Amino acid sequence: MSTRKKVTIAGAGNTGGEMAQRLAEKNICDIVLKDEPSIVETLHHGKALDSAQSGAWAGFESEIIPADTWEETADSDVIVVTAGAARKPGMSREDLLNINAKIMRLVAGPAAEHSPNAAMIIFANPMDVMCHVAMDATGFPRERVIGQGGMLDTARYRTFVSREAGVSIRDVHGYVLGGHTDTTMVPIVSNTMIGGMPIASLLSQDKIDAIVERTMKGGAEIVGLMKTGSAFQAPATATMEMVEAIILDQGRLIPCSVHLNGEYGIKDTFCGTIAKLGDGGIQEVYEVAVSEAEKAKINAAADVTQELFGLIEG
Ligand code: 2OP
Repeated sequence: MSTRKKVTIAGAGNTGGEMAQRLAEKNICDIVLKDEPSIVETLHHGKALDSAQSGAWAGFESEIIPADTWEETADSDVIVVTAGAARKPGMSREDLLNINAKIMRLVAGPAAEHSPNAAMIIFANPMDVMCHVAMDATGFPRERVIGQGGMLDTARYRTFVSREAGVSIRDVHGYVLGGHTDTTMVPIVSNTMIGGMPIASLLSQDKIDAIVERTMKGGAEIVGLMKTGSAFQAPATATMEMVEAIILDQGRLIPCSVHLNGEYGIKDTFCGTIAKLGDGGIQEVYEVAVSEAEKAKINAAADVTQELFGLIEG
């Protein structure tokens, strides 16, 4: 392996495989694709080799290395945990609680032992709760346990706003905070801007309400359409932006789940807010100025996460 920075993607399912490809195309680090050989014997070896061969035309030098053991992931700068069951139609993210908590403990603990200084990005659902499980399993500080949810939910929100307004998605600026579940997500309408104009000056309240509703159920909509699993293109793209921000020390302001320490009046609970990501993980946590109603919803999201955490068996 080169002296480039090293990112481990734990879990080589649809999302993990897609993440490896997207990250390789950024050409900013080497990638280890870690999975259990016993699940689908050599799937991650096949995915890693397939992606590596795309380098000839995609033009990257990043190595993509399949790994069966945690030793091979040693000294990673970032670990992305995607391992876990995905939703099937009719299931909520919360239905995955116990199965994914078990998997998270099996993955996060050994991953952290071999990469004690890594920043860990948690992707498995229910994501905010899984961040708590990962923090317990690793003993990592809040700067290095970061939940991916807000980036994806924000992408969905901006997509729907841009389609409804008939403008480029690049000119839509709005964020989704709160929890990463169908009921706890909080699209922050109060400060959503389109080309420097408040969203309410371009879209009617009915349209905004419909966008909020569709955003909150955005994951379920895709599960319902795909039938065989959950979304992976937008999730992989969203997560790799976070990895890039850390690896290249970009200081980007990213909506993500953070172990809050008084922000919004919430303590010791993972919840989505804006954080500055750069070298080492989270460099700053911000409390965004939101409306009173939005703040109440963010608090309610944190309560649900605490409640779910208490329901984990063992
Ligand atoms: C989603 O929202 C997988 O949680 C992910 O699609």
